[in-house]
Amino acid sequence: MTARTLNLDDALYQYLLDVSLRETPLLRRLREQTQALPNARWQVAPEQGQFLALLIKLLGARRVLEVGTFTGYSALCMAEALPENGSLICCDIPGDYTATACHYWQAAGVSQRIDLRLGPALETLAQLERSGALGCFDLIFIDADKANYPAYLEAALRLLRVGGLAVFDNTLWSGRVLEVDAESEDTRAIQALNRALKDDSRIDLSLLPLGDGLTLCRKR
Ligand SMILES: C[S@@+](CC[C@H](N)C(=O)[O-])C[C@H]1O[C@@H](n2cnc3c(N)ncnc32)[C@H](O)[C@@H]1O
Repeated sequence: MTARTLNLDDALYQYLLDVSLRETPLLRRLREQTQALPNARWQVAPEQGQFLALLIKLLGARRVLEVGTFTGYSALCMAEALPENGSLICCDIPGDYTATACHYWQAAGVSQRIDLRLGPALETLAQLERSGALGCFDLIFIDADKANYPAYLEAALRLLRVGGLAVFDNTLWSGRVLEVDAESEDTRAIQALNRALKDDSRIDLSLLPLGDGLTLCRKR
């Protein structure tokens, strides 16, 4: 018995996947195709994707926003969990990766639920605010440029409804959050976000050691 979170070695991690991962053949194909890319490490872990889908069902979410889509794995997990009338806005910058995402969303029959917006995400979020989407979203998943994480938090808190969830990926940053006087701007931004969230009275908070660290912020 232990009163702290376990360290998972390879065998125990494989066991976790064996007994709980319910990945569809299409998601598996997307994951394997993405794993052949140079930026493969950008993709969420499959158990994170499944957890995001569960969160959507737990919240009864209908309006969801993703910041950082890449080849579309986390978006596909979430879109498949949405009800028929649900919608997912995906933010990314122009590039080759989102064509793969669109292909798989089409193949899964969920592309009509997904609105892909290409451009710097802070601009897309500001545009959503201007169009009257304040307090409209049930869940916002943030998995893009780390230097903007503190700014994404502020935008997310404006765009979420009370009781809605902002979910940040990579909040343990492969352990680099422990660095003192970190040189990387990304590391410093994640450290700043984590420190600020601890005492942020606008949210309820949990940092889960799932994947590279997944922080859940429930808007009060
Ligand atoms: C870690 S990947 C997202 C992984 C994705 N959630 C998945 O599960 O496969 C980060 C993505 O954020 C995008 N990105 C980086 N900076 C951005 C910005 N300023 N605005 C919008 N997207 C950005 C990158 O192009 C990249 O596709």
